[in-house]
Amino acid sequence: MTPSRTVWAPATPGKTVRIIDQRQLPWALVLEDLHTVENVATAIRDMHVRGAGCIGATAAYGMWLATETGVPLDTAATILKNTRPTAVNLAWAVDRMLREGATLDAANTIAEEDAAACQAIGRHGLVMLESLRKNLGRPDHAPLHILTHCNAGWLAFVAHGSATAPIYAAHDAGQLVHVWVDETRPRNQGARLTAWELARHGVPHTLIADNAGGHLMQNGQIDAVITGADRVARNGDVANKIGTYLKAVAAHDNAIPFYVAFPSSTLDWSLPNGKTIPIEERPASEITHLDGPDASGAIHTIALTPALSPVANPSFDVTPARLITGLITEYGLCHASEKSMQDIGLAPPPLTSRLASDIPS
Ligand code: MRU
Repeated sequence: MTPSRTVWAPATPGKTVRIIDQRQLPWALVLEDLHTVENVATAIRDMHVRGAGCIGATAAYGMWLATETGVPLDTAATILKNTRPTAVNLAWAVDRMLREGATLDAANTIAEEDAAACQAIGRHGLVMLESLRKNLGRPDHAPLHILTHCNAGWLAFVAHGSATAPIYAAHDAGQLVHVWVDETRPRNQGARLTAWELARHGVPHTLIADNAGGHLMQNGQIDAVITGADRVARNGDVANKIGTYLKAVAAHDNAIPFYVAFPSSTLDWSLPNGKTIPIEERPASEITHLDGPDASGAIHTIALTPALSPVANPSFDVTPARLITGLITEYGLCHASEKSMQDIGLAPPPLTSRLASDIPS
């Protein structure tokens, strides 16, 4: 049976965190049990789990495992926060666990809230898609064509997803939606994960090379872009998987609406803009090698590039707020600006609930 969540603490055997090992998808659905903080750190760093909400919830469960295995909470917090720098959900979840005592209940609450926020994003995004259909004069029998980048589906959260939540909501409501899926080099989260998710849900979709989006936009084949986010600055600048910025530029040039969907746990109020969002540099092997099954199903890793060529692998980029048509959050839709975010009820955390280290001196 397919689990409906990406991370949870099974009742038996206890003191265990269970995840979907996303490295094995789409070829095999494999669950992995984590028992220690180090297990959790490895799972996040080596991307057994990935995606902003999913790594946040997994780190929260890692903090609970710290209490169960006698690891000091400040040590566990440092280990977990150092695994991946860009998605702020991770540090947000670890800090919240520090404040709330790192109990299983606290971790479960973070996971529940993540799932609920994504479900609400789906409801608000559905309204946006309905009005887009109306504005375009698109008849019911013709699909809306949505481009998405990377995987901001349920695998990237605890459930439902962010960018895909409106798509699932529209599909489930009987609306015709077709998704252009960027393959998303170098790790191919679009080709491996988003395509797998959409296929299982029965949502019509087509995989494309990352470079194809601009051409499709010029030819009227894309009605809107919806991506996720790993960290959103106070002014609405958005860090997301590398290549997102180029899609935003192309969408702007073609007057195609560009939406970013994320839960409030992805908002970093401490950053005035996207310039100081830390951009993770991932290993060169993600670019130089690929893995996949042969006809017998055995997985092999193959080399793609000349062995002596140096490689750079920045894993995220920042899309400026001015290129973003709208943000879709659990609070509703708004413009990519601090005022608009606050107008729908998104608000910086009160100073009293912040850690001393969060408060600028
Ligand atoms: O490196 P990843 O796979 O953890 O990257 C994160 C992402 O999946 C994307 O950037 C996504 O669009 C935002 S996270 C929901």
